[in-house]
Amino acid sequence: MRSRFQAPLRAMPPPPPGIRPFRPDDVPALGPVMWDAYRGTPDEADVGGPEGAAREIRLALDGEYGTFLPAASFVAEAQGRPVGAALVTLYRGLPLLAFLFTAPSHSGHGLGQALVRAAMHALAAEGHDTLTLAVTRRNRRARRLYEHMGFVEVA
Ligand SMILES: CC(C)(COP(=O)(O)OP(=O)(O)OC[C@H]1O[C@@H](n2cnc3c(N)ncnc32)[C@H](O)[C@@H]1OP(=O)(O)O)[C@@H](O)C(=O)NCCC(=O)NCCS
Repeated sequence: MRSRFQAPLRAMPPPPPGIRPFRPDDVPALGPVMWDAYRGTPDEADVGGPEGAAREIRLALDGEYGTFLPAASFVAEAQGRPVGAALVTLYRGLPLLAFLFTAPSHSGHGLGQALVRAAMHALAAEGHDTLTLAVTRRNRRARRLYEHMGFVEVA
């Protein structure tokens, strides 16, 4: 069971150092990071493993979850390596946060929030006014993060 959340977009400060735009050549490194992040969560089975994670990222890039928006998608780096990402698409006319993840080794330090804020900054600058996402009801950690960031459950 998934809930749909949305947040209004307004002008935001630009992303801090360590958060940079997504590049297509990030996919091989992001697969294992995404799997590490999802392993042990209620969404683990949907990802399946590092290969499954890379496949999900490629599907997002290829338009399976709406038109991929590279300019609104960001990677968090630590010591020059990706440790998290926010991937955004345009789904049925609205920006959708298709994937958000932070490696467990780097979670709890604000990277997840910084990635979402970076996406919000880029989307607001392009004139979008709403960011949507779907989250599994039992994914309490993600839900709390979104609620603290001003998202409200709409369905
Ligand atoms: C959900 C997830 C993206 C959070 O990533 P994260 O990098 O740990 O997120 P943050 O550190 O920004 O926020 C986590 C908590 O740490 C807190 N925090 C700790 N140190 C912080 C700091 N220095 N600055 C800001 N927040 C900090 C945040 O306030 C937040 O608390 P809250 O949940 O009560 O609001 C990550 O746990 C994950 O990848 N989960 C698996 C994948 C997943 O479920 N994705 C969402 C699917 S919809």
